[in-house]
Amino acid sequence: MQIKRPSPKRRRRRVLLAAACLGLLVAGAAAALWLYDRPDPPGQAAPEAEDISPEGGSSADQDPSPTPEPVPEPASEPVSSAPPETDGFARLYYYEADKAQRYAEYARLHPELNEGEVVWRVNAGLDGRHYVDYEPARNTGSAHYIVSKYRRLPDDFVPEGLVDVGGYPMTAETAGAYYAFQAAGRAAGYRFSAVSGYRSIDSQRRLYEGYLQKDSAEVVDTYSARPGFSEHHTGRAVDLAGSSGGLLDFENTPECAYVHENAHLYGFILRYPQGWEWATGYQYEPWHITYVGVEIATDMFERGIPTLEEYTVKFIEHRPEH
Ligand code: DAL
Ligand code: ZN
Repeated sequence: MQIKRPSPKRRRRRVLLAAACLGLLVAGAAAALWLYDRPDPPGQAAPEAEDISPEGGSSADQDPSPTPEPVPEPASEPVSSAPPETDGFARLYYYEADKAQRYAEYARLHPELNEGEVVWRVNAGLDGRHYVDYEPARNTGSAHYIVSKYRRLPDDFVPEGLVDVGGYPMTAETAGAYYAFQAAGRAAGYRFSAVSGYRSIDSQRRLYEGYLQKDSAEVVDTYSARPGFSEHHTGRAVDLAGSSGGLLDFENTPECAYVHENAHLYGFILRYPQGWEWATGYQYEPWHITYVGVEIATDMFERGIPTLEEYTVKFIEHRPEH
């Protein structure tokens, strides 16, 4: 059988047709590849959750602020949208709208906490880093302001009207309350006395630097404040020693229990209670009492609120509705 060969004209048409088909195929593949590789248009990229926290965000001591990169559409970010259980934050009377993102971040880092705990802790600044994310101390004219690793006094701060109490300066109100408390204790058979009161920022610096000669900064920071951050600058803090031994033995004296049970009646609180180191920033100091006034000290005692940090958020900076 003879095979009929196409004419040269037909062959050329077939070649042209095949070339056109091949061209279409190549163009289609190139378009598909381009679409696949194309970067997200600006403003629509959704970064990973890890990118939001500048330092890894694994502990409460780290900066909870959002990513420093501007994000055009925060609503589309997976970690900035609050989990469902944070919806109740705004119902709390001490909620502060400008801290909404910090509440969400703190709740994410501490899923074991309820909303009330998250909100007061963030309001107190506990989501910040010690000695880094601090603010100026507030209401320094009052008898109950906080000085802590999150609230600093200016270098030239000296409280008004200091009076001398056996070599230890205190504000006049503190001194009056101290004398009344000491007299009541003595009448009940408990003898205790002040071994420290007001300390200037310079004397705190010498003290802190002296401790650094024997302990690392990490250890010293658990028991001594850095200059400017000590409550002793306020003239309202008093360290006590009992009838035997010094300040470090106070816990083992009968005076210690008496002081802890009765200090509120004279306007004092135990400022660094046991088990609350995470809130106050310092280890337990059974000897350190602070004058805040009878009303606040008694209210804290009766409500069972052990730290000035929590009480200040819930009953001074905000007040519950009755
Ligand atoms: N010991 C307390 C924390 C102070 O140095 O102020
Ligand atoms: Zn003290």
